[in-house]
Amino acid sequence: MKKLVRRIVNRIKITLFGHPHMKAVAYNELYLPPFRENQGLSNNETYIQSAIDQIVHLSQHYQFNKDSVVLDFGCGQARLVNGFKTLGTNLGAYYGIDTHLKSINWCKKWISPYGSEFNFGHVAAHNARYNKTAEKLLPLPFDSNKFDLIFLNSVFSHMMTDDVSYYLNEFERTMKNESTLYVTAFVEEDVPDVEDNPDNYLGEAKGTLHRVRFEKKFFLGLFERAGFNVEVFSHQHITRTKQSVIIAKKMVKP
Ligand SMILES: C[S@@+](CC[C@H](N)C(=O)[O-])C[C@H]1O[C@@H](n2cnc3c(N)ncnc32)[C@H](O)[C@@H]1O
Repeated sequence: MKKLVRRIVNRIKITLFGHPHMKAVAYNELYLPPFRENQGLSNNETYIQSAIDQIVHLSQHYQFNKDSVVLDFGCGQARLVNGFKTLGTNLGAYYGIDTHLKSINWCKKWISPYGSEFNFGHVAAHNARYNKTAEKLLPLPFDSNKFDLIFLNSVFSHMMTDDVSYYLNEFERTMKNESTLYVTAFVEEDVPDVEDNPDNYLGEAKGTLHRVRFEKKFFLGLFERAGFNVEVFSHQHITRTKQSVIIAKKMVKP
């Protein structure tokens, strides 16, 4: 009975005031998500700074310019865009796609109004953690040779090998020659090739695909096989999550 009353009260609140997950926190002329899956990012300054740190690191290997066409794969609530806006980074076009519909709806409501260069799209691809009901992986909804940069923060950390390889091939197809791929993932040496939520690794795991850990040689081999030259491997570069950073260039195709 209590549960039912609570459900009815919640429904009335949502009808009157909107869903809490669709609201935003206004911060320095930006909009930030009020609910963040990663507790380490609950402070607004830390949240923005986490994106700035990645853009600054990436800028040492990729020169952003007015023609840059960027894909943020698994964009979540477009944390990266708030970093770009804070830094005033030059961009031609940004595309954020995600399998999590609520995140994309949030981005369309709060981030799209930043400017016409910011585009968002939902792809109903299967992920056992983020979209269980979708049945299969889906090709990227883009033509070949489109992107100058593809960015993935904490996405391959929630996928097993077959999915990683599938998307690396899709990235290779949709990227221009010599364009840049930036990935964060849990990568270590002297461990099995791949494990979902390995025991005694970086604390308690919450649910399937919380922390997928790859063996370094095995993981970097997947990039090479898909047609990328790995230029940077920085172990546990993201100190907050202990994810490593990989920066790779698409090999030139005749
Ligand atoms: C840990 S969150 C990271 C979000 C964002 N990149 C950030 O840095 O704030 C992982 C994201 O990857 C998305 N994702 C997982 N599998 C995906 C797939 N196959 N296609 C698109 N997005 C996916 C999830 O829905 C989720 O939003």
